[in-house]
Amino acid sequence: MKELGRVPPAERPAIGAATNRVKQEIEARVAAKLAELDAAAARADLARTVDITMPARPVPRGHLHLLTQVRQEAVAIFAELGFAVAEGPQIETDWHTFEALAIPKDHPARDMQDTFYVADEIVLRTHTSPVQIRTMLAGKPPIRIVAPGVVYRRDDDPTHSPMFTQLEGLAVDTDISFADLKGVLLHFVRRFYDQDLAIRFRPSYFQFVEPGAEVDMQCRFCMGRGCRLCKHTGWLEIGGSGVVDPAVFAHVGIDPEAYSGFAFGMGLERMAMLRHDVTDIKYYYEGDLRFLEQF
Ligand code: DAH
Repeated sequence: MKELGRVPPAERPAIGAATNRVKQEIEARVAAKLAELDAAAARADLARTVDITMPARPVPRGHLHLLTQVRQEAVAIFAELGFAVAEGPQIETDWHTFEALAIPKDHPARDMQDTFYVADEIVLRTHTSPVQIRTMLAGKPPIRIVAPGVVYRRDDDPTHSPMFTQLEGLAVDTDISFADLKGVLLHFVRRFYDQDLAIRFRPSYFQFVEPGAEVDMQCRFCMGRGCRLCKHTGWLEIGGSGVVDPAVFAHVGIDPEAYSGFAFGMGLERMAMLRHDVTDIKYYYEGDLRFLEQF
């Protein structure tokens, strides 16, 4: 159309008219095509439906760590029996960790436990038993508490880690006996493992209980016949326990003539290990999803 000026004047009207017709034709076709595409898009919009019965694509979702699950379950079972949760610091005084529990300075137990020292009289607690002391200093009997928490020892092999988790229990009242300890632990084992298992006590020595005993439960893998997991003994060790030593009461100002108590301590890693046949304590801490997702 721009070059129409170079066309001889005589031919201009005819060529101009023809050019206009072509232009109008192209514009009309473009407009028609656009309208058609618009209409198709609108139809597709209306035709699109949502199938609400279609299963959703799974959204990857985290969950609580096995040890957290085990801790919460254990606490819930003891709560059924009236135990409250108590806590204490992980950086603890030597006095709460050893002295008040009747473990004197030169006692080999302090070596055995291989303590991490933060300062002269300050340690990373080697067990949750100092929470017993803090609880008895803070309140009067009746006392019924469980204290789950992290503890530290210079220890490192397939069944030991320098940091691990214990659950301490303490009951103090006017008529507490060893029978109460047995009833509580038997109830716990049966609820936690969901099996009708027996428990037994083996006399043992812990400075802060008298009598003291190690607690075994019937092997839940072979039901006591003997297998690899119970090293063919039929029993699995689950913790320490005993009747609170009057020497401990003396440190916290509780009258041993008026009150008696029992205490126990268990390792949560071991409890989970015995329930799920976990073969190495490191699995709990490595954060490998292939392990964690199984629980
Ligand atoms: N504190 C002990 C340990 O870590 C375990 C223990 C034994 C706790 C006997 C207790 C108990 O409460 O009565 O080896």
